[in-house]
Amino acid sequence: MTTSARREVLGDGAARPLDPTPSVPEEIEEAGLRPRTLDEFIGQGQLVEHLRIVLEAAVQRGKPVDHLLFAGPPGLGKTSLAGIVSAELGVGLRVTSGPVLVRAGDLASLLTDLHEGDVLFIDEIHRMSRSVEEILYPAMEDSKLDFLIGKGPTARSIRLDVPHFTLIGATTRTGLVSSPLRDRFGFIGRLDLYATQDLEAIVLRSARILGVDIDADGALRIAGRSRGTPRIANRLLRRVRDFVEVRGDGVITGETAERGLALFGIDELGLDKVDRAILDALCRRFAGRPVGLTTLAQCVGEETDTLEDAYEPFLLQQGLIQRTPRGRVPTQRAWSHLGLIADEAALF
Ligand SMILES: Nc1ncnc2c1ncn2[C@@H]1O[C@H](COP(=O)(O)OP(=O)(O)OP(=O)(O)O)[C@@H](O)[C@H]1O
Ligand SMILES: [Mg+2]
Repeated sequence: MTTSARREVLGDGAARPLDPTPSVPEEIEEAGLRPRTLDEFIGQGQLVEHLRIVLEAAVQRGKPVDHLLFAGPPGLGKTSLAGIVSAELGVGLRVTSGPVLVRAGDLASLLTDLHEGDVLFIDEIHRMSRSVEEILYPAMEDSKLDFLIGKGPTARSIRLDVPHFTLIGATTRTGLVSSPLRDRFGFIGRLDLYATQDLEAIVLRSARILGVDIDADGALRIAGRSRGTPRIANRLLRRVRDFVEVRGDGVITGETAERGLALFGIDELGLDKVDRAILDALCRRFAGRPVGLTTLAQCVGEETDTLEDAYEPFLLQQGLIQRTPRGRVPTQRAWSHLGLIADEAALF
């Protein structure tokens, strides 16, 4: 990115939320930050350990790996893991996503194109249509594709062989993956929000790849505000890099990280504009009364799904909100974070 482009990102110095849709160069940069091997994959210790065993066992048997499902909030490394599995096994990787696979034929053409042992990665697998899901079952179990040709009384069913493959599904919602599909995965790996220590290691690794000068304190400050999410850690690192290059000497220290993050509207818990709008709506607008997800989404101008997948897990983990049968409520910590005094009656 040129300096002038960076200036544009920084604007006139006013606090602004981060751009949720990174420009193309940033996407390319992001791709360069993806871990390529299990050794490079930081954190998620237990999941990595299990995966290592599953992969090694399959290699020893000389058979394709069982189908794998990775579940967890956005930006925690599901797509990265799919790439790692195919790289560790030295097999091909085909990438698609649930919403793209509309008709049975879409999946059939992908499957017939695979090589023996390849990995087929279906992102957002919970959004795949039922008709596609149904032809996936025999393909997953017996490497067969059942097809209906024609319509009405002349219709006939044909059965095709497809190569043995490993299906890797990714979902932000295990609950929305139908149980027959979920049961066909041999391994389900759940990704949790990352500990600050792991995020610090991720920031240092990314800084090394990007050639950014950063000290341990700088990395720690960025990690602490990354909402447990590597993708956010990388994004904040790039924003702080912009800041120190334009307004500083190009070195990220604890102090410059702090100033850069404040400029971009990230507070000390790592909450962004939407997180704060959620807490604000719960505390001020609804005075601590339970609020349904749809109402809350409308209040902050986000999709219900985005709120549930991307925002809620962190707010819950931080003990800022609680889910009750009647809706979401703010906790004492949320009131204090906003600098408000909870209405005693509102806290239950
Ligand atoms: N364990 C990790 N170690 C190092 N970097 C990581 C790790 N996990 C994720 N990342 C970084 O975070 C970025 C986002 O990860 P990835 O795209 O795999 O997440 P995802 O779970 O597929 O997200 P989404 O649900 O939005 O598709 C990657 O580009 C990578 O740089
Ligand atoms: Mg992904």
